[in-house]
Amino acid sequence: MLKKCLFPVAGYGTRFLPATKAMPKEMLPILDKPLVQYGVEEAAAAGLDRICFVTGRGKRAIEDHFDVSFELESSIAGTGKENALQGIRSLIARCSFSYTRQREMLGLGHAILTGRQIVGVEAFGVILADDLCLTENEAGVMSQMAEIYQQHKCSVVAIEEVPLDQVDRYGVIAGDAMTEDLIRVTDMVEKPPVDAAPSNFAIIGRYVLTPDIFDILETLPPGRNGEVQITDALMEQAKAGRVLAYKFKGRRIDCGSVEGFVEATNYCFERSRMGV
Ligand code: UTP
Repeated sequence: MLKKCLFPVAGYGTRFLPATKAMPKEMLPILDKPLVQYGVEEAAAAGLDRICFVTGRGKRAIEDHFDVSFELESSIAGTGKENALQGIRSLIARCSFSYTRQREMLGLGHAILTGRQIVGVEAFGVILADDLCLTENEAGVMSQMAEIYQQHKCSVVAIEEVPLDQVDRYGVIAGDAMTEDLIRVTDMVEKPPVDAAPSNFAIIGRYVLTPDIFDILETLPPGRNGEVQITDALMEQAKAGRVLAYKFKGRRIDCGSVEGFVEATNYCFERSRMGV
């Protein structure tokens, strides 16, 4: 059973400057809830209640969010305002939280490798909180992926079909279809030029990784942009047929861009008005 979920939250969030100058991107709210809380709720719902953060300088607000705010809580105790804290309080009670710092921002692969000490030698989930994944009648995306992992016991990446002219923003896979929603990965490229992309199946910010990924990441030379790319490490596992790509059910919105952030806000506002 998967128990741990890693949240790499050390990035600078430059697309949101100046908002992210002194505040983590992951604390930007969609309506009244920070992005990172949506991610932790998704992990906890999948049974991954040991939450491991890879943080960096200027990210302390995330630690404070997943802790008691004594003064505030005692000042609103017994008033109607307490209700607004119910969700985060029960999440804090349900989960444990560990933190480690990535001292240099050398890419997502390096951030994941930094989490090695707190993850240990077990398979684990990875959630990039700025990819907001919402479901309506289905289980959350991490729950769907945990189920695939239980059946196949290998790494799993969530994928989505994107317009061909956008493949250069993503890690892109190719492989052999196993079922309607599952592909055994044979090829993987990080941000390929549009005319060299092996498909338009893009990897989004949800992974289940087996722990051998750490040894691979450790030996990997920096790839594109001088960063350690998780895609390159996954390609090593894929050569042994050990990576599945899963077409998840639900909707993903890239809240790492202003456009996606506004789209997510509007979508969630409409849903809340309809009482969903
Ligand atoms: P992004 O590239 O989307 O995030 O990385 P960013 O660098 O924070 O944003 P921009 O492009 O400057 O606006 C994807 C995820 O990986 C984490 C980020 O925090 C984000 O959740 N990350 C990235 C790290 O934790 N460490 C890194 O060195 C790089």
